[in-house]
Amino acid sequence: MTKTIVQIRNEAAASLSPEEQQQWEQFLTPMPVAQQAVGLFTSTVAPVRILDLGSGSGILGAVSARNSASGSSVVAIEQDSALASCSETSLQQVCSDVEVINRSVFDVFLEPEFDRVILNPPYKKISPVSIATSSGSVKVTNLYTAFLAMAIQSLADGGECVAIIPRSWMNGEYFKDFRKWMLHECSLDALAVYGSRHDHFRDMNILQEIMLLKISKRAQIKGIEVYPDATPAIPLEKQQHETVKLDSMLMGRDCILRVQQQDARLSGFETMTDQGLWVSTGKLVWFRNRDVLSADEQQDGHPLYWSDNQDGLMTVHPVQCNREQWVTREADSHNVVLPAGSYCLVNRFSSKEQHHRIYASYLRSDVDFVADNKLNYVHQGTSRRTVPLDDKVAQGLTVWLSSSIVDEWYRQVSGSTQVNATDLRQLPCPSRMQLGMLADRLPPDNDVSQHRIDATIERLFSWVQVS
Ligand SMILES: C[S@@+](CC[C@H](N)C(=O)[O-])C[C@H]1O[C@@H](n2cnc3c(N)ncnc32)[C@H](O)[C@@H]1O
Repeated sequence: MTKTIVQIRNEAAASLSPEEQQQWEQFLTPMPVAQQAVGLFTSTVAPVRILDLGSGSGILGAVSARNSASGSSVVAIEQDSALASCSETSLQQVCSDVEVINRSVFDVFLEPEFDRVILNPPYKKISPVSIATSSGSVKVTNLYTAFLAMAIQSLADGGECVAIIPRSWMNGEYFKDFRKWMLHECSLDALAVYGSRHDHFRDMNILQEIMLLKISKRAQIKGIEVYPDATPAIPLEKQQHETVKLDSMLMGRDCILRVQQQDARLSGFETMTDQGLWVSTGKLVWFRNRDVLSADEQQDGHPLYWSDNQDGLMTVHPVQCNREQWVTREADSHNVVLPAGSYCLVNRFSSKEQHHRIYASYLRSDVDFVADNKLNYVHQGTSRRTVPLDDKVAQGLTVWLSSSIVDEWYRQVSGSTQVNATDLRQLPCPSRMQLGMLADRLPPDNDVSQHRIDATIERLFSWVQVS
């Protein structure tokens, strides 16, 4: 009896060895996600040439072919030979013109001749490499953007590509080059963000926030369809979505893309960068600076701050924890010491369980100090020179960054639990004078409640009546 595409996929998923699954990122797409992804392609009466990159069991290519006009063809590339043979079996069920190439996609030369390219690529981080393209080289830092760059290159004019990828390319420094290149190369047509990543690849045990991305090889279209909280359980057209212009999604020179429209209450504010505030990352990487760490205060040494030193909205020192609270005077020659003064520290990491993504604390240090690399610090200098903040600005900024409206903004911009400096720099921020007023109304304290923070901000900006 012939097996269905779903049976082939499920048997392939069950037979994967955990080691190979991890090594090659063999997280196979379930049928509801595959159908929703393929549903984003424009249907045509004419046959199309389909390409499936990293085809696994062949589910994406097969569903694409099943939804396309007869006479369509599929090329699938899969480096695992067992999965390549599953691809062959799946694709033969629905299409008579099939070529399965059992090689790495990076060893195959592809002409720009495909009308439909579909992929759920591996999501692994890689050391940055430049990929040569017909319009100059593009730096990629992850296998999925490397696959996407290949996918885009293989599109014929007017061709469409749908990818199942993490959301991480939309923000942050690592993907900046790729974002700019991609937006220059093609039109962004649709985005569907799956709120909960765990739900949709249930048997695959993955913990990435994923999305569907549709792009096409043509000039940017006017209305991008954005589904900010999609689920594969319901047809996309029946789900909440907006049609937006690219400009309204883009933020700053780094081309950060926002999924949802910004809260109107934030529209009057400039960004942190516009306010002359700069976000830098703490300079001490502990395992490279072990020689200067000290459990005791040293003459001519400096206090060392970790996220352990954040306590409510305050930064306290020293604290009882299993990390050294001081550095020796030798740290002076390691280029890690920051000038005494007032700052706002922001933890670069949060966990899924934490109530807030952004965890900010006010620091006033009367002596030069050192901040661990897992902390960002806000100052009024540049990337090369650290200049402490005015004390009231540091206090007000800490309260601002601890508000629910800012946390909500950040979650819309980033699907990851990491809080990076590039995104924070684009954050809407009151003027320094307003930050000072905020500090007067609510000086940071280590047990100030969320309700008080939000209520103080609402009153200061007269949002109470609006909301
Ligand atoms: C996330 S899985 C998705 C598989 C399939 N497209 C799907 O949606 O179910 C990624 C696939 O890419 C394959 N793969 C990883 N690196 C590859 C490479 N360099 N060239 C070709 N295939 C690769 C893996 O073996 C795996 O089957």
